[in-house]
Amino acid sequence: MMIDREALYNKALEARENSYCPYSGYAVGAALLTADGRVFVGTNIENAAFSPTICAERAAFASAVSAGAREFVAIAVCGGKKGSKPDPACTPCGVCRQVMAEFCKPDFEVILNGRTLTLAELLPHSFGM
Ligand code: THU
Repeated sequence: MMIDREALYNKALEARENSYCPYSGYAVGAALLTADGRVFVGTNIENAAFSPTICAERAAFASAVSAGAREFVAIAVCGGKKGSKPDPACTPCGVCRQVMAEFCKPDFEVILNGRTLTLAELLPHSFGM
């Protein structure tokens, strides 16, 4: 990995500062590492109509894919009550896991607060093309 796990996690922490979460008060940050060493960040962006809300992980994928990236190595994710330290229980939601499965191999690393899991561990028997 061109940037170590801790440095990628720190970028997720920085992105979390930009969270727009007036409805849930739950702030999430993500930092996605591409195979060619680029890092794309994302944060959760909520909406008064609720369902347009986008998670931090999907915001990072949207930014990366829009810039032409298609191969990914790892994503760091941190989330928790806004203004508090990240919650170790914060893991990517099911929708975000499915988006990861669209672009990433089973050994894609998901770096969380205190542990790193693979995509295969987070989404076994996934549906794909
Ligand atoms: N959220 C994320 O951004 N990523 C996750 O992995 C879990 C949930 C956001 C969505 C919503 O804005 C808030 O956290 C509470 O669910």
